[in-house]
Formats: sequence, structure tokens, C-alpha cells
Amino acid sequence: MTATILDGKAFAAGIRTQVAANVERLKTENGITPGLAVVLVGEDPASQVYVRSKGKQTVEVGMNSYEHKLDVETPEADLLALIEQLNADPAVHGILVQLPLPSHLNEDLVINSIDPAKDVDGFHISNVGLLGTGQKSMVPCTPLGCLMMLREHHGSLSGLDAVVVGRSNIVGKPMAQLLLGDSCTVTIAHSRTKDLPDVVRRADIVIAAVGRPQMVPGDWIKPGATVIDVGINRIPAPEKGEGKTRLVGDVDFDTAVEVAGAITPVPGGVGPMTIACLLANTVTACCRANGLAEPEGLTA
Ligand code: GUN
Repeated sequence: MTATILDGKAFAAGIRTQVAANVERLKTENGITPGLAVVLVGEDPASQVYVRSKGKQTVEVGMNSYEHKLDVETPEADLLALIEQLNADPAVHGILVQLPLPSHLNEDLVINSIDPAKDVDGFHISNVGLLGTGQKSMVPCTPLGCLMMLREHHGSLSGLDAVVVGRSNIVGKPMAQLLLGDSCTVTIAHSRTKDLPDVVRRADIVIAAVGRPQMVPGDWIKPGATVIDVGINRIPAPEKGEGKTRLVGDVDFDTAVEVAGAITPVPGGVGPMTIACLLANTVTACCRANGLAEPEGLTA
């Protein structure tokens, strides 16, 4: 059996089309243009790529993009002052501070200084608490993208056994909350989990979010299970030439695709969904800020 490939690239394009239609409606019917502010401190190359991509896609769906690039040595007080200014700016509906931050900055303090209503990453402790108690919140983008793909493939997730491998605040923990919200039986596994292969083998849904290249092989997968690979790891690819690299996930795709019922590829699976969900969250935040009905299908 070969698994169905869950095409995140196509799915994300569909989300962006819906976002663009909603942006157009907000402009023409309400005279409002949603705006997303992205703050980057320092010059981490991977972060620069993400931020550029976010800015480009924000403009492509018709929203305003505000980029703030700060020096790597920016004092914490200056960053907090910028966030305060963005919190107060009515043209800004979403604020994202790119992580990781340089080590002299307190990430928790910075994230929790963002107005929770504009926290389109869903990382503020208020949003974490709202999600954990099943209340309306801003939902972290990558887990939201995974949930959308799972719902599209399965319809109802009710009663399914889900194993989330990885316990990060950005993916693992919010992913587990979302799956619980959809009535899955959820296990969170991690590097200290005993008998990890056996735990993963019980799952109808596997979410791999550990950041270790090809760590989950096909023989850990229950036949027919749905595998969502959140990992994006760059590894050497000598077969492509000296010094060349390629992207792989946390799942060993070549063996897993033979066992799974459905699987996301890397690249082209979960990756494109993250920015699409960021744009969706910005539209949702804009509607909420203006007391307007929020679009269907763009949040959890
Ligand atoms: N760095 C890696 N992933 C993310 C994300 O989803 N949001 C932010 N703000 N930074 C990140």
C-alpha cells in the first residue's frame, strides 16, 4: 500500500484564496484593510527567509504588511516600546515577533507584552489558557494548519488515537489541545518517553514535531495511519553534489509512505500551511477587533 499524499502546498493556496476574498470584502464593505506587523530582531538567516516570505504573502492577499527589522543588540526596553506602539495602532490587527530572539531578550516577557487580541501566533499566555479551556482564542499557526489538513482528510477526528511526538510550546502542546478539542484520545510523547516506537504504533494519527531528521521510521507506523510531519531539517545530500543539502522531515518518508494511509511530504506538506494560517489568523483578528462576523473555516 502506498499512502495518499496530503498536498499542503495546494491546501495552503486554497486558504490564501479564501483569505484574499475576505480581505477584499473587508475593504469594499467595511473600508478596513487588515494589517500584519512582523518584528525581526537580528539577522538569523532562516528567520530572514521566513520574514521575507510572510511579508510577500501578506501583500499578495491584499493586506498591509509592516516589517520592523531591529539590530541584534536592540535593548529589551526598545523592543517592548515598539510592541506597545503596535498594540495601540488601529491599522495593525496582527503582531508577530519572529523567534528565536537573541539571548539577551526575555522571550516570555516579550511575547506576553503583545495585546492578546493581536497575538496572531497564539503564543501569549492568555491565548494558551483560552485554547486549553476550549474558549475562543488565537490558535498557533502550525498546529492550526495540521488540524485543518486532518479535518479535510478524515472529516470527524472523534475517538481517534492521536500521538504527538514533541512537547514544544509552538507545536506539540497546542497541537495536543486542538486534537483533544476534536475528541481524539491524545498522547504527548517526547525524548524521554519509554518505548516510543510502541506508543507511536498505537496511533491512528501521528504528529511528528521533534526537529530530528527522519527519526520516525515506517515500522513505527500503524498500517493505514495518518502521518503529519512538522519537521523541516536540512541534511547533507552528497548524491546531489559536494556540499549540497536537502530538506527532510522528522519522519523517514520513504519507509513511512509504504505503511501509512496518508502522509504529508517535506517540503510541500505542513510548511506552506503555517504562513497561510498566519494570514487567516490576521483576518480573524481584524474581524474580531471590528465587531464583525469572522469567516468560516479559517480558524479552529
Ligand atoms: N519561529 C519558528 N516558528 C515560528 C512561529 O510560528 N512564529 C514565530 N513568531 N516565530 C517562529
